[in-house]
Amino acid sequence: MTTPIIRPRRLRGTPALRRLVAQTRVHPAQLVLPLFVHEGISSPRPIASLPGVSHHTLDSLADEIDRAAAAGIGGVMLFAVPAARDAVGSAACEADGILNRAIAGAKDAAGGRLVVMSDLCLDEFTDHGHCGVLAEDGSVDNDATLEVYARMGVAQAAAGADVLGLSGMMDGQVEAVRAALDGAGRTDVALLAYAAKYASALYGPFREAVDSQLVGDRRTYQMDPANRREAALEAALDEAEGADIVMVKPALPYLDVLADVAAQSAVPVAAYHVSGEYSQIEAAAANGWIDRRAAHLEAVTSIVRAGADIVVTYAALDLATWLTEGA
Ligand code: PBG
Repeated sequence: MTTPIIRPRRLRGTPALRRLVAQTRVHPAQLVLPLFVHEGISSPRPIASLPGVSHHTLDSLADEIDRAAAAGIGGVMLFAVPAARDAVGSAACEADGILNRAIAGAKDAAGGRLVVMSDLCLDEFTDHGHCGVLAEDGSVDNDATLEVYARMGVAQAAAGADVLGLSGMMDGQVEAVRAALDGAGRTDVALLAYAAKYASALYGPFREAVDSQLVGDRRTYQMDPANRREAALEAALDEAEGADIVMVKPALPYLDVLADVAAQSAVPVAAYHVSGEYSQIEAAAANGWIDRRAAHLEAVTSIVRAGADIVVTYAALDLATWLTEGA
């Protein structure tokens, strides 16, 4: 009988040894918490499809940002549900549109303690639910949409956003928004490009949360889950167009893509642990089938291990608490 000389188990023997040799560490400062503001409510309201996440009023948004800052979270990503929608998403570009008011309120509440990011996309604002404006034949008109994104970007910068999250997957969107911002003298505002955003089944709870009007799907602009090398192209294009941060979305089913993008990018890389990923853990935990805390910690650790510098997650507040306790 031979006895092994090399024994990897030696370094797993105690919590102190395991802590010493851990090759991935997650810190609250690299987490971003998505937040929803709803124009039509007067007090915060839980979102059924996203347990633990609520629709906020402008007041309760400020309280939540205070909590996030106190927990040491790195940033917030703002989404809004407007009271009225139209074909071109007009409210997105108006200074008193709900998202722009939320940005201004968030900026005040943050007081420089965390980064205020805003979603730059039309899907919450259009009555057809697509991420862009439509051509006569009903298709999503890429270049006409760029013109609206440019105005939306300048409005969000004026409202006080530090970083704009370009999530619409239109070709040339980074270049268009960068040029508009620079033209408006806002060379200081950064762009987080959703570079590789897949047409995923995991956005369901989010679409519920924003009362999405979409009929059909987004497969003519979001990426096909079958494609890996295409993500490298999308990320390279966005970086060349001036993206300050590139993102992969969803996260866990796309860790191969995330690792590729992290290996090729000179800019920071983010990953979005999306609503369906979050709610799967929540639903299983609610049934007693999975340990909620362990599952969320494993998810975020895996996303960082694969190469994410930044993780957008609905669990950011709990994670910050758990990571601080564990430190
Ligand atoms: C679209 C957008 C989506 C999400 C954020 N912005 C997806 C979509 O509806 O196609 C999804 C986020 C999530 O599921 O958590 N602008």
